[in-house]
Amino acid sequence: MKGSKLFVLVIFSATFQYCASDAITTTTSTPPLHKKKKTEAISPNPFGSSTLFPVKGSIQEGYYYTNLRIGKSHKSYSVDSDTGSELTWIICDAYPPPTLKSRKGQSHHDPYKLSRVVISCDDPLCNYVKHPRDDPCRLLSNDNPCPYRIEYGDGSSSTGTLVKDYFHILFTNGSILRSSLVFGCGTYHPPESDPNKELFGDGVLGLANGKLSIVWQLREKGLMLNKIGHCFNSKKDQQGYLFFGDYLDPSSSSSIEWTPMVTLSKDNNHYSPGSADLLFDNKPTSVKNLDIVFDSGATYVVLTSQAYQAALEIVQRNLDRTPLVPVVDAFLEKCWGWGKRIKSISEVKKYFKSMALNFTNARNFVQFQLPTQSYLIISPSGNVCFGISYDSESAGQNIIADIAFQDKLVVYDNERKLIGWASSKCIYPPRVEVDHDQESNGLSSLEDA
Ligand SMILES: *[C@@H]1O[C@H](CO)[C@@H](O)[C@H](O)[C@H]1NC(C)=O
Ligand SMILES: *[C@@H]1O[C@H](CO)[C@@H](O)[C@H](O)[C@H]1NC(C)=O
Repeated sequence: MKGSKLFVLVIFSATFQYCASDAITTTTSTPPLHKKKKTEAISPNPFGSSTLFPVKGSIQEGYYYTNLRIGKSHKSYSVDSDTGSELTWIICDAYPPPTLKSRKGQSHHDPYKLSRVVISCDDPLCNYVKHPRDDPCRLLSNDNPCPYRIEYGDGSSSTGTLVKDYFHILFTNGSILRSSLVFGCGTYHPPESDPNKELFGDGVLGLANGKLSIVWQLREKGLMLNKIGHCFNSKKDQQGYLFFGDYLDPSSSSSIEWTPMVTLSKDNNHYSPGSADLLFDNKPTSVKNLDIVFDSGATYVVLTSQAYQAALEIVQRNLDRTPLVPVVDAFLEKCWGWGKRIKSISEVKKYFKSMALNFTNARNFVQFQLPTQSYLIISPSGNVCFGISYDSESAGQNIIADIAFQDKLVVYDNERKLIGWASSKCIYPPRVEVDHDQESNGLSSLEDA
């Protein structure tokens, strides 16, 4: 049927069959992508080489996270997805137990057991990590284990050792790969300002672009393109997804707005779509020329204090003749209420307006929409709170974070140096719309090969 659309549910087999390192095996029990005969054509892989992970979490929890399977026993570790940092690291048994107490969240897995393959100081990859102050690489011999230290925007940090172990990677085409990748095996240090802060899950999945990123490493091995996408679901009980490689939800790909990645400063590999002006209700505001960073490791949007004050004033001014009044709520700095409990944003939505970021560097005029749910959150005590905070460290960056990523597919294409986004339902597994014509063309080239 010419031009007809097919919906294909991408399903993965739970059967694991492993081969030697970096070898691929196809699971024989992988169900065909679609049962009808006609559509077997799109098997084995209409999307190019990619891997897809379900993502749990919510703004209320403060995290969006997924599971990685690592090691011979392919144990599962839950990791916070963080496009603001490069190194993936896992809580590790080589470090003292206090870290075990400082974990919260759904996962209380056993710590990772230090693998026998430790990266040494003379390994080229060791040049890409920051070392702790008492750097043993400089003090001792070159075959010393490579130590790392990574600091996060909230003041927390992780220290440990670079190690190498198998990651169990399930490709969207049904193949499973056991690939030896470098990551951190370490411990968590809460911020000085908040010594009781706990690490969520078992570690961090670093998605920023750089030689230490696991996607970069997979690219080096020729297994997939250096592209990352995330789609966080706003509903607490629904899973969104994360992908590495050439996977794109074709139903949203046509609506993706692409803009070039911009390097903000030299020693920083943050994803930035450049600078933008803030629009309120589709109209320009005094908030202009914000250097924007996309960081899924942060929960709330962060603006420089000047931009924050201006944005807050605009929102407040619009609330002046409404029943919503400022209230004190320990949940967030700025909240509004009206005496009775507010249960959802939809109850108060009419008193707020949409905002948007209007990117000024792009050749095409791209905007990142910030509907009310992208900057408002209902507190546990039933007030509506401002999901934007200010940058107390005056780092000069404006961070677009989880709250604004909800129900959007965001793609970081490190191959073409583009960032793209589109609104999406963010349901795992994604329903992929395949154009029938294109798909049969794809088939013939597959058969020719
Ligand atoms: C699936 O993708 C991987 C990674 O590129 C590839 O090596 C493998 O051969 C593919 N499997 C099939 C069945 O096409
Ligand atoms: C958004 O930015 C473009 C330039 O990139 C400009 O032409 C347009 O007027 C701006 N839109 C608004 C509403 O300010």
